[in-house]
Amino acid sequence: MSRRKLFGLGAAGVAAAGAGALATRSLVEEPPAALAVDHVSAPVPFYGEHQAGIVTPAQDRLHFVAFDVVTDKRAELVELLQEWTAAAARLTQGREAGAYGAAGGPPEAAPDDTGEALDLPASALTLTVGFGPSLFDDRFGLTGRRPAALADLPRFPGEQLVPEISGGDICVQACAHDPQVAVHAVRNLARIGFGRVSVRWSQLGFGRTSSTSRAQATPRNLMGFKDGTNNLKLEDDRLLREHLWARGDDWMAGGTYLVTRKIRMTIETWDRTSLAEQEAIFGRDKRAGAPLGGKAEFDPPDFAAKGPDGQPHIAPDAHIRLAHPSNNGNAHLLRRGYNYVDGSDGLGRLDAGLFFMAYQRDPRTQFVPVQTALAKRDPLNEYIKHVSSGLFACPPGVRDAGDYWGRALF
Ligand code: HEM
Repeated sequence: MSRRKLFGLGAAGVAAAGAGALATRSLVEEPPAALAVDHVSAPVPFYGEHQAGIVTPAQDRLHFVAFDVVTDKRAELVELLQEWTAAAARLTQGREAGAYGAAGGPPEAAPDDTGEALDLPASALTLTVGFGPSLFDDRFGLTGRRPAALADLPRFPGEQLVPEISGGDICVQACAHDPQVAVHAVRNLARIGFGRVSVRWSQLGFGRTSSTSRAQATPRNLMGFKDGTNNLKLEDDRLLREHLWARGDDWMAGGTYLVTRKIRMTIETWDRTSLAEQEAIFGRDKRAGAPLGGKAEFDPPDFAAKGPDGQPHIAPDAHIRLAHPSNNGNAHLLRRGYNYVDGSDGLGRLDAGLFFMAYQRDPRTQFVPVQTALAKRDPLNEYIKHVSSGLFACPPGVRDAGDYWGRALF
């Protein structure tokens, strides 16, 4: 089938398609709208009230890592967090993790930085840390310190989680515009942590699938749709206070909770699905990203509007209807995911999908109801499979050079 045939037929939705009212429109004839160039090499400030890498305009690349703590000594864990914080303060400013080849150091000793980012700029590197439920146990005397909002996620229908790539005691999200800078940071934190932590699983991501600032153009996910249109964003002060940052006076105040889900896409099947069906599944137009029945990307979706055939423009089970705050007790999320391709699966298919990450004030009332609705009814489920899950309490920001990640917890 030609590209023209595969992509050339558009419709306001399956209903219209069923009525034979197909409008001819091509996704491939016009040049793609240019994405704003937001590659930057400048550093992002490390110290602050909140950790960087959450509302920071999403960078292009991700290296996410989950560690298991292998020491059972609380003092060693605290020392590690102090060393990591000091290294992160340097790395994010484009400096080495430690004194690389420090003058006077013994030449037979390994250098304090692995070196592969030596001539590269900071590339907007951010390092964001989170603590998983499994950290809050007797080993470190943290049993009573586990926040209620860090409740284990329930099992969702259809998920096929692989334990080896799920969970973890501590996570680090490294985002940068240069993948070498993100990988270098994770590698050096793992090196510093030797003997105290071991890498449980990690994930590389490319092509952010979200905007976290109104200054950014909305990128596309591997299904070809604009992703991140209706997201919590840096400029939404009131919404961020209400839905993103943890409140109160305990150690998490000013922090936030992260849910990660590795979602494999069967993109080969998706690529054989008609444009009309693809658009009906999301409830948005593929080229412009407009809600069906609307014209422009940021038009608010009108869930009540009906076409001439009496059917709603946005199907009752469309992804954006099911995920919308109006259907989930006003649950908002700050989505900050990335595309991934982990090579191929040996069966002639790409091992590809979305590494979904969402920050929020309380997963029990935000991620859980939204994912419950999606897991039950989203027609997207025919094309996706959740294979990994992570849940982390991300403490507030590091205030100054005397502070460290998680100080208030310990
Ligand atoms: C919206 C894609 C999984 C929550 C969207 C949009 C797309 C999309 C294209 C419309 C544009 C936008 O507003 O960002 C996907 C894909 C997924 C996926 C490809 C899986 C591979 C999830 C999951 C959740 C979620 C697991 C949360 C549990 C949302 C929310 C919105 C949204 C909250 C905004 C709805 C609105 O208020 O209009 N998604 N999504 N998505 N998605 Fe997903």
